[in-house]
Amino acid sequence: MIVMKTVNVGLIGFGTVGSGLAAALFSQQERIMRRSGLRICLTKIAARSLVALPPEFSVATLTKDADEVIHDPNINILVELIGGIEPAKSYILKAIAAGKHVVTANKALLSQHGKELFAAAAAKGVEIGFEGSVGGGIPLIKALKEGLAANKILSVMGILNGTANYILTRMTEEKLPFAEALKEAQRLGFAEADPTYDVEGIDTAHKLAILMSIAYGMNIAPQQIATEGISKIKPVDIEFAREFGCRIKLLAVSRSVGESVEARVHPTMVPESHLLASISGASNAVEFCGDLCGSVLLSGQGAGRLPTGSAVAADVIDIARNISCRCTCRVPALSYLPEYIIPRPVTPLSDLRCPCYLRITALDKPGVLAKIAAILSRYGISIESVIQKGRKESEPVAVVILTHTAIEAAVTVALREIDSLDTVAAPTVRIRMLGEEE
Ligand code: HSE
Repeated sequence: MIVMKTVNVGLIGFGTVGSGLAAALFSQQERIMRRSGLRICLTKIAARSLVALPPEFSVATLTKDADEVIHDPNINILVELIGGIEPAKSYILKAIAAGKHVVTANKALLSQHGKELFAAAAAKGVEIGFEGSVGGGIPLIKALKEGLAANKILSVMGILNGTANYILTRMTEEKLPFAEALKEAQRLGFAEADPTYDVEGIDTAHKLAILMSIAYGMNIAPQQIATEGISKIKPVDIEFAREFGCRIKLLAVSRSVGESVEARVHPTMVPESHLLASISGASNAVEFCGDLCGSVLLSGQGAGRLPTGSAVAADVIDIARNISCRCTCRVPALSYLPEYIIPRPVTPLSDLRCPCYLRITALDKPGVLAKIAAILSRYGISIESVIQKGRKESEPVAVVILTHTAIEAAVTVALREIDSLDTVAAPTVRIRMLGEEE
């Protein structure tokens, strides 16, 4: 007779992802048992309000007191799914101090305080699983930490925010206004509590920082990542992008160049032929480039109850297997051993070289374009093409210029001069384009 070992799990946070995790653990209990030889039981849940649990969750008890879960001596793994910095950070530190393994999907917390949390966990000999923090249901972290462990990672590039991608997709395919598309994403449960994190690229920067730590064995704070969101993108930019054979995507881009790394998040014009251009809706996709494996593209559902619940459950199963064979902490939290996690300089955005889309709002008068072209030429910026549509004597019109590869710093000063012309009526919108080598 097989004697089944039991691993008990406690959960703090019973919102979208928390209920997704519970659904995954309860509905797949038999399958998980056949795969791990373990009975993984969600025994206690701390929630803001004492809702009635569905009948299939009835083996779990519900409490409003997180400490009751953290200090339950029968619980082996504590799952934190409340998000935000505090009290999540204190809960995790208390659980580590109590000798519990931790699973979290908290990207804001890990990207800003990961160093402290991972050090506390390593000192106590417990694991922190965080697959659900980046890419929803896509096992990106496992792939990077284990599948690509023999590689020097050369670059990480991708779409890491489902809400932003959903908004851009709906604006492109259905011509919906930005605000309406955002409301839809909120209704579908993808968006952060504060959607500014989604639309201003902050959530993407948090996720990129986590991936970069693992990819390059370095600590990087989200504040070191040049970040620009999608809130300035107008339907007219999406239309122009279409005419140029491109899609606008909020991309996270990072590259290892010598001793330094590039790290940036911004709306990007992606040629339709590029795989990332076809990633639509709330999907995420990331391309890792390794020196041995070349390019690896992973894509899937980047947000939502069950996809993220699936990622969190995978961490729980992984840790439960390690507990059962007494080999926890086999894989370091960031793949590199802590003593090999070294600081690396981050290349300033001003050094970036890429082609640009410039939407200038100018009065339609003779000589205006000549002045703009003269400024661009003075800063060594070469024009690839120019489009102006419509003609309104009294109102400014959109003049769109595509540049050849140009240095970011030069474009910035040129735009400052262009925007100060009295024939230019609004700040120019700049969208970086994916270069040919990317
Ligand atoms: N708000 C996030 C997104 C949720 O839209 O991608 C998943 O991290």
